Amino acid sequence: MLLVLGANGQLGQGFKNAWPNDRIIYVDRTECDITKQDHVAATLDRCKPTIVINCAAYTDVNKAETDEGHVACTLINTTAVEILATETAKRNIPLIHISTDYVFDGQKNTPYTTTDTPSPINYYGQSKLDGENAFLKYARYGAIIRISHLSSEFGKNIVKTFHSLLKALPEMKVVSDQKICLTTTADIVNFVYKLSNLNPLKNSKNIYHLGSKDACTFFDLATEIKNTIQSKTALTPISLESFSGPVKRPLYSVLDTQSAQEIIDCPSWKKSVHNIIQTLEEEQ
Ligand SMILES: NC(=O)c1ccc[n+]([C@@H]2O[C@H](COP(=O)([O-])OP(=O)(O)OC[C@H]3O[C@@H](n4cnc5c(N)ncnc54)[C@H](OP(=O)(O)O)[C@@H]3O)[C@@H](O)[C@H]2O)c1
Repeated sequence: MLLVLGANGQLGQGFKNAWPNDRIIYVDRTECDITKQDHVAATLDRCKPTIVINCAAYTDVNKAETDEGHVACTLINTTAVEILATETAKRNIPLIHISTDYVFDGQKNTPYTTTDTPSPINYYGQSKLDGENAFLKYARYGAIIRISHLSSEFGKNIVKTFHSLLKALPEMKVVSDQKICLTTTADIVNFVYKLSNLNPLKNSKNIYHLGSKDACTFFDLATEIKNTIQSKTALTPISLESFSGPVKRPLYSVLDTQSAQEIIDCPSWKKSVHNIIQTLEEEQ
């Protein structure tokens, strides 16, 4: 039995949509606040999962830079991961934890491998790296899956945002010098499905990079969506520096997905965008 924590977020909804069956237990913040050790212990004892998947996180990168954001971000992205790792380890349960390309500083110009040294440049990235370190210290078995620019038909994400802006605005300025990968909730569900049947998850701890097999910029993304929906919005390329304001973001955050490619066939970013746009258009 798999247990999904943080089930109401974008990724949690992706799991629910793909695996609505009775082999999965979905638990949201009201049922299990992962920052509370007693909630986590009681949930694990009640559900008796064979694998725990942590989809819960503090994901507001801008707010994370504020004093109030620092506290909440550290509690959810770091302290709670230590609690999850400790409580799952006590019960010999593998933990799958989701992390981010934002653990890297973006100074490279070749894809980040799982052996590259993280060096975050914003508070969110630091809190996620501290969470990874808590996982590596306290978890017994499991996996950290680093992803990049999570997108889907659920929640808030860059593909959905561009899709609605390209229907509403006559013109848009879009960052064209930041290189990224795109990870979809479908990629993660697919990857976790395969991983959950493999032995390494049940007797070791590994880090994986999961995302599109090729890289793009936000300008590439917006252009592809514009062409797909035949939007008339005029797009103007701008630099990340002129856009990003007080929060630093990595200029280059492409993940080397070789470790994940050994387990699933990672799609191209264009294929992922087309799948999401097709679903969004069908919903309208
Ligand atoms: N979004 C991206 O572009 C991106 C990129 C790289 C990595 N990631 C990582 O991918 C994972 C999933 O992200 P996402 O986009 O699905 O995030 P999301 O939509 O913001 O969802 C996060 C969920 O966590 C829940 N949560 C927050 N604090 C909690 C707590 N104390 N106890 C239990 N649940 C709690 C939230 O509950 P409420 O609904 O009650 O607020 C929300 O449902 C995260 O680890 C994130 O760091 C995301």
